[in-house]
Amino acid sequence: MLRTEYMGLELRSPVIVSSGPLTQNIVSLEKCEEAGAGAVVLKSIFEEQIEKDVSSDMEKNEEYLAHSSADEFFAASSRDYYIDRYMKLLTEAKKKLSIPVIASVCAKTMDNWMEYCERFVKCGADGIELDYYPISSDASVSGEEVDRRLIAFAEKARKTIDAPLSIKLGYKYSSLAWVIAELDRIGIDGIVLFNRFFRPDIDIEKIEISSGSPVSSASEYGEALRWIGLMSGEMKRATLCGNTGIHDGETAVKLLLSGAKAVEVCTAVIQQGFPVIGKMNAFIENWMEKHGFSEPGDFIGRLSQEHIDDGWKWERTQFLKTIN
Ligand SMILES: Cc1cc2nc3c(=O)[nH]c(=O)nc-3n(C[C@H](O)[C@H](O)[C@H](O)COP(=O)(O)O)c2cc1C
Repeated sequence: MLRTEYMGLELRSPVIVSSGPLTQNIVSLEKCEEAGAGAVVLKSIFEEQIEKDVSSDMEKNEEYLAHSSADEFFAASSRDYYIDRYMKLLTEAKKKLSIPVIASVCAKTMDNWMEYCERFVKCGADGIELDYYPISSDASVSGEEVDRRLIAFAEKARKTIDAPLSIKLGYKYSSLAWVIAELDRIGIDGIVLFNRFFRPDIDIEKIEISSGSPVSSASEYGEALRWIGLMSGEMKRATLCGNTGIHDGETAVKLLLSGAKAVEVCTAVIQQGFPVIGKMNAFIENWMEKHGFSEPGDFIGRLSQEHIDDGWKWERTQFLKTIN
């Protein structure tokens, strides 16, 4: 029995397929469910993408722009096009899947898009995951201000969205502990630690900027493990979800032991196919049987800082020991 509760939702398995290429069409979504996923997070609708496509639509229709309010018309109709397409996928997913379907918005400002989340909820979304993604490259803004802006963003989302709500975070905040504790305090239901953001690279032959690898390696789970281990015992309402570098059942068990109620996986499914979800479930079940646990709740958080005497180990990597 793999049942767990994450962001107020009952999941049959702690393995969630995270937002990405595997959750952008109904065929893949059905395969996620068939393979044993506990929930799916739909591919995000991007605030930036909407804005970009609005302007390119407007360029294509320049002749109309002489009309007063034409730009407003195109802005509204392009946005509606993407929103409608998203709602169609969501509606179909809700019709065909019995596991929770979480809608996702990749946002960088607090503008108009938040009202759309309410439409997703009316359309049947079981929850909303907000992927907050500002690049804090303004040298005049302090770390404290960056952290506070995230909390202001989450607070506005919490007030606007009357449904289970999670925030998917990057780990570059000046005080992650404060950020996670504040998200819990203001009533966020789930915190995903951590998103793996787009990484730039450089093509030295073309001498231009290119994209780094979008997929993770299996050694990248350490930061999620550390911060979930440090913070899970302090959460009053929010449940934590591990993400990035979780490629197999063994790593999923580690995240659960640190205090995650669920894990989100993307690269593992891209590289190993949908059956990896079932393999992860089977590994967790076999491990539970071997250690005498009857459900994930029996061992989730066993190694969180609050539950062990040597909790300092989460903070200090033992370089000295390794060197010796
Ligand atoms: C091709 C690709 C597209 C992605 N698109 C999104 C997205 O739209 N929204 C989002 O929140 N995360 C997106 N992600 C990030 C994944 O959901 C996930 O957070 C990240 O890949 C780390 O998990 P992993 O190590 O299991 O891959 C994408 C990842 C990949 C590889």
